[in-house]
Amino acid sequence: MPAPAIQARGLVKTFGETRAVDGVDLTIARGGVYGVLGPNGAGKTTVIRMLATLLRPDAGEAQVLGHDVVAEPQAVREKIALTGQFASLDEDLTGIENMVLIGRLQGYGKTAARERGMQLMEAFGLADAATRQLKKYSGGMRRRLDIAGSLIVTPELMFLDEPTTGIDPRSRNQVWDIIRTLVDAGTTVLLTTQYLEEADQLADRLAVIDHGQVIAEGTPGQLKAQVGTGALTVRVIEAERREEAAAVLARVLDAEIVRESDPTALSARLGPEMRAASALTALEESGIGVENFALGQPSLDEVFLALTGHRAEDKEPEQDTTDGQGERPSAAAEPVSAATQALSEDGDQR
Ligand SMILES: Nc1ncnc2c1ncn2[C@@H]1O[C@H](COP(=O)(O)OP(=O)(O)O)[C@@H](O)[C@H]1O
Ligand SMILES: [Mg+2]
Repeated sequence: MPAPAIQARGLVKTFGETRAVDGVDLTIARGGVYGVLGPNGAGKTTVIRMLATLLRPDAGEAQVLGHDVVAEPQAVREKIALTGQFASLDEDLTGIENMVLIGRLQGYGKTAARERGMQLMEAFGLADAATRQLKKYSGGMRRRLDIAGSLIVTPELMFLDEPTTGIDPRSRNQVWDIIRTLVDAGTTVLLTTQYLEEADQLADRLAVIDHGQVIAEGTPGQLKAQVGTGALTVRVIEAERREEAAAVLARVLDAEIVRESDPTALSARLGPEMRAASALTALEESGIGVENFALGQPSLDEVFLALTGHRAEDKEPEQDTTDGQGERPSAAAEPVSAATQALSEDGDQR
């Protein structure tokens, strides 16, 4: 059996007083997308930089595609591609000039580098902008060029560090498509993100990271089931049939049904089983017309709140000079351990 894409044990990295990464274990199988989800400052980039051999761990060990990141950094570098927040593209060069430069650095001849560069720029919808200087590119175009550049040589493993943070929804969807294409071509992708929705759309499994520690691991479905705060909102066509609809939903969902101020609207919190489809089917079978419905997903904030006891945006001061750095609110202890245990139990059954 080939080595997993990534195997990390007890990774630690401190910067002065900050324990940026505080004992991270990760096992990532080959193929597909593995997500690392966490708020700003959680330690995502530091984990990636250690795995990509750009930063030496203070403690712990990691193998990437079977090679030790400290003992065999060159072997690791030959097999990976890294892109993200620290891409070094040249602002004064055009898009294609940047691509050629990257290609030459990877050992391509001039013509071959240009050919491969154009091919990728076309694939990423950047052909029209090829001869434009990079400083005239939008954020989304830059992000795509950055990914394109790291694909000049098809990598076995690609690190994508927050590839969609701060870009518009259209570019975001394009980046998602690119990632799916990469995966179809056999590349393993390690994606960091602050967005639950992104992890949900792309990741086969994910680790939730906070204060430099993995606090939960599993499939997106398992994580959401732990949180279990999805909500279904239904609007019936005829307001006078709302009570009837409420009775049907109560029966199928086994949940408290909330009558919204809109006289046609009902909502219910969904449990981990998420029986939304059955609920809608039951309404249809009862002959109750549904004007529309919406399925609310738990937000990243809700996931965080449930897993950590604090909100994702409750960011501690960067330089924490108090003694509180390693501590968590005591209210967090229970949900964290419950969620983590449930997930690892599930994981063991694979
Ligand atoms: N080179 C560095 N020097 C000092 N502190 C750093 C450095 N890199 C990261 N940090 C700190 O380490 C913590 C984790 O940072 P980072 O890994 O960049 O988090 P994320 O990528 O999840 O936003 C933060 O508190 C950050 O300020
Ligand atoms: Mg980062």
